[in-house]
Amino acid sequence: MNDQLFEYVRKQFPALTREVNGYPVAYLDGPGGYQVPESVIAAVKHYLVNMNANEGDQFETALNTSAMIQDARDIFADFFNCSWDEVVFGANMTTLNFALAQALVRQLAPGDTVLITELDHEANRGPWLQLQDRGVEVGDVAMDISTCTLDMEDFRNKLLKKPKVVAVNYASNGLGTISDVQKIIQMSHEVGAIAVVDAVHYAAHGTIDVKQLDADFLLCSAYKFFGPHIGVMYAKKEVLSRLTPLNLRTQQQAPPFMIETGTLHHEGIAGAAAAVEFIADIGLKFGNEFDGQTGDLKTDRRNQIIAGLRAFENHEMALTEYLLESITSNISRATLYGPAPGHPRTSTVSFIYEGYTADQVAKYLGNRGLFVWGGHFYAIRLVERLGLLNRGGLVRIGIAPYNSGSELDRLIDALGDEDALKRFVERKSS
Ligand SMILES: Cc1ncc(COP(=O)(O)O)c(C=O)c1O
Repeated sequence: MNDQLFEYVRKQFPALTREVNGYPVAYLDGPGGYQVPESVIAAVKHYLVNMNANEGDQFETALNTSAMIQDARDIFADFFNCSWDEVVFGANMTTLNFALAQALVRQLAPGDTVLITELDHEANRGPWLQLQDRGVEVGDVAMDISTCTLDMEDFRNKLLKKPKVVAVNYASNGLGTISDVQKIIQMSHEVGAIAVVDAVHYAAHGTIDVKQLDADFLLCSAYKFFGPHIGVMYAKKEVLSRLTPLNLRTQQQAPPFMIETGTLHHEGIAGAAAAVEFIADIGLKFGNEFDGQTGDLKTDRRNQIIAGLRAFENHEMALTEYLLESITSNISRATLYGPAPGHPRTSTVSFIYEGYTADQVAKYLGNRGLFVWGGHFYAIRLVERLGLLNRGGLVRIGIAPYNSGSELDRLIDALGDEDALKRFVERKSS
């Protein structure tokens, strides 16, 4: 990211002025959720001040609410590259995925197979594992622990069971590994399976193109890319329309409404749409014409989104390389876990620190204003498979567009200061 863009980005986030113990806060917890720009805060407030109402009534604010939700569907259609009636809103990804599993199970018979993976967050495992109560068999595709990637040989073998559903993540929130979901979807379709993609971690880091992927369902959460805490799902129209989700007779029985139960989180939707517009605005202001696919960057919102995400990605990947190199060269107690150089990855970097649990390291860093996560981050199966669950999991650093090289230098200095860490842990335990 060029300096001008980085300076502009930093200024958009009021939370970046926070201090802890006299240290400016470095939010290195992006995989847990991004900070929110002023435009998103303004959009939430604007909704609550000017349009707050339920849908279905005939007065002005109710009509405005419906128009706002329609606009948000159009915006997310550009985000996913789909049509507006394939955009489903919900409480969060986990809740949407449970609703999807409940809808899909009505099409399954006892003995049918669903595939999940060891690389996935529990939100894309639990909803499918609970179908075992209904006689569905669940196969768990192995993670290759030597490469921290999905074991494609094991996947190929498990496809021989002709699963009805394959649930897989686009990128791992625990390790940053990006999987070849396009290939996985193609292989799933070849055996007749419906492909469900968890793009919660990936969505902040790269462009999603559901048409190119040919995904049947793809889920993400706006709070992972500058928005409020809501979930958003792409649902292929012809697949969702064949399902019978749990819903009320008062609901519209057509996509996308048929799987959206109850009143939606209106102000969250307004903020989520503003989050995508924030990305598009970055693309428009700082993007390169060649970053778009076709058409004009000035008028085509999809191209602006692609260009914005590319600008962010360039910044994140340069810092990721810097962080990996700095940890390898300077922090002898750290052991990195994640894909090998050259394998597609996000800017999420995880490691263990010899002699201390991830929780102890995260608390120590947090005390110095360096906000990072320690533990399993709900990617509990992969942490278990790496043999790290009993020793408290991993320390996870996430690099977001508003993070800087100097924040990473502070992190490296803190990790290198073994005496300070020792003193901190001893003080806490005394
Ligand atoms: C990869 C991944 N999938 C799913 C989830 C769950 O998302 P939500 O909190 O929206 O239910 C998370 C949250 O951290 C995640 O990182």
